[in-house]
Amino acid sequence: MAKPMGSSGPGRGPMRGPVRKPKDAKKTVLRMLSYIGKQKWLLFLVVILICISALADVAGTYFLKPIINDYLIPLIGQKEPDLSAFIAMLCLMGGIYLAGALSSYGYNRIMLNISTRALKDVRTDLFSAMQKLPIKFFDTHAHGELMSRFTNDTDTLREIISSGIPHFISSGLSLIGVFVMMLVLSPTLTILVLFMLAIMLFVVKTIGKRSGYYFKAQQKELGRVNGYIEEMIEGQKIVKVFSREDQVKDEFEALNNSLCQTATNAHSFANILMPIMGNLSYLHYALTAAVGALLAIAGYMDVGTIGAFLQYTRSFSRPISQISQQFNSILSALAGAERIFALIDEEPEVDEGTVTLVRAHKDATGLLTETADSTNCWAWKCPTDNGSFEYVEVKGDVRLENVTFSYEENKVILQDISLYAKPGQKIAFVGSTGAGKTTITNLINRFYDVQEGSITYDGIPIKNIKKADLRHSLSMVLQDAHLFTGTVRDNIRYGRLDATDAEIEEAAKLANAHNFIMHLPKGYDTMLTGDGGNLSQGQRQLLSIARAAVADPPVLILDEATSSIDTRTEALIEKGMDKLMAGRTVFVIAHRLSTVRNSNAIMVLEHGKIIERGDHESLLADQGKYYQLYTGMFELE
Ligand SMILES: Nc1ncnc2c1ncn2[C@@H]1O[C@H](COP(=O)(O)OP(=O)(O)OP(=O)(O)O)[C@@H](O)[C@H]1O
Ligand SMILES: [Mg+2]
Repeated sequence: MAKPMGSSGPGRGPMRGPVRKPKDAKKTVLRMLSYIGKQKWLLFLVVILICISALADVAGTYFLKPIINDYLIPLIGQKEPDLSAFIAMLCLMGGIYLAGALSSYGYNRIMLNISTRALKDVRTDLFSAMQKLPIKFFDTHAHGELMSRFTNDTDTLREIISSGIPHFISSGLSLIGVFVMMLVLSPTLTILVLFMLAIMLFVVKTIGKRSGYYFKAQQKELGRVNGYIEEMIEGQKIVKVFSREDQVKDEFEALNNSLCQTATNAHSFANILMPIMGNLSYLHYALTAAVGALLAIAGYMDVGTIGAFLQYTRSFSRPISQISQQFNSILSALAGAERIFALIDEEPEVDEGTVTLVRAHKDATGLLTETADSTNCWAWKCPTDNGSFEYVEVKGDVRLENVTFSYEENKVILQDISLYAKPGQKIAFVGSTGAGKTTITNLINRFYDVQEGSITYDGIPIKNIKKADLRHSLSMVLQDAHLFTGTVRDNIRYGRLDATDAEIEEAAKLANAHNFIMHLPKGYDTMLTGDGGNLSQGQRQLLSIARAAVADPPVLILDEATSSIDTRTEALIEKGMDKLMAGRTVFVIAHRLSTVRNSNAIMVLEHGKIIERGDHESLLADQGKYYQLYTGMFELE
């Protein structure tokens, strides 16, 4: 849901948490590797191809020495030189380079496959981690910011896997190979190389440290910008209603500026790296040539060695500058990967429940046995101490005992709430806005757990029941009903996936949604888009009631299900609802007293406490708050 933006300027709001400390890059890399490690054989092939290409590079260059010394220099001064041997050597060298180029193409192509598959796994993990998160997490994180983990962050990650890692390996191998060959050719010149290497590493490290910090900041800012955009798309109507376009633009501008700033910082550090490295490598080349020439003049070295060595100097600095060129993407990928893994590692919703919901068969003596058949009887399967199971029939008896609850510490929302709903009873909650009505239902289906007191369902403490099973046994029509992209039929079927078309229509009729659905252009096959944007608020609620109805649960929770419906439709729905409610335990929250009048018990809530309870008649007779509400002396809202 969109967060109210009103006066909240940039730098405020739930998505602007404290700046995270730089984390462990090594750990992130290892974890990334574990994703590509799943494709062992392909990876093995990649490593072999990388070895071939690095080897070809090193070997090809080494050929320069014999070619110059043994095949070229002897020809100098000859009248009719025989070039055939020389050309054969050149062809051999070309062949080696070609093999190198082909393997390089090969491993890059394979890496592309590996990386897209690894990314698929990352996305799957990310999405399933998200499905396991408690509701509280979504209450406290901007949705756009979460989205950006799926978009920017995975994108940068793909980049590093497909090109960063193979380059890293091939550069590493080339460096080793080249270094060994240099040592073989000339230990003296190699000392010069080591000296230059030290300087280069120092530069990379110094600049890398600074830009790493800014890259992390950049990913974070990008998340903020995306979060803001998403909020504004969701809240576009409100923006227009209050003509806040200019203010919104200003707020966006501020966020955008700060993204621009961090991006500039990040890239400017990384970008100066390239020219510096380039210049250093030219310097290196020149120095090597000069020292080599001096050594040759002094008779310590031959021309072929200088030629090959010079070529190696280039091969030596190339991987280093390649890595530094990719520094940008490596750093932002690492920052992105950290954010992805942080979400994957987010504490999942804990569920210590062991009691499950099963279909059961009840014999004449009332004995329950588990069955795979689709019966109308459900049972709680409770493990006992001796390893066997006990079955308790699901009836829909819900009791709250001395429940105290707060969303945040020190801010008690519900205080000492006790109530019971016997199977088939209808319990209504009324009370002013913010009194805690929705909160009670949030506790019954364990979106949140109680801090004190207990809630039992058919005598079983709900914290012992597996959350999924508990929720399966309850149907809820939420205050902010959400519809998914899909047909009307799909949306109703969401309540029970194996419902037949006939059952769906029946549920729609029960909820009185059938009539309006038939008036839609394609009836039940009409596509709904963007949370049912093409329907009225009331129609959306009717659909969500139908969705709850099709689930056919023993307990039904309706949160202001009728508040957006006109009086005439409401009367119609009431009839349908009576059918829907028959034989079920129902908790209903309504702002209209007409909908709660026929409840078995009405709880009047105020500031998280039940201040009155009883049925309609007795509450009226008491002449308390309910009486005031009912007789219109106080508005409910
Ligand atoms: N996720 C949350 N985190 C923190 N506080 C919350 C959260 N949800 C609700 N609250 C607070 O809990 C109190 C009760 O909210 P609740 O939604 O239960 O009210 P309600 O009785 O359903 O009101 P309404 O009639 O407006 O729907 C409010 O003061 C609200 O600010
Ligand atoms: Mg509410």
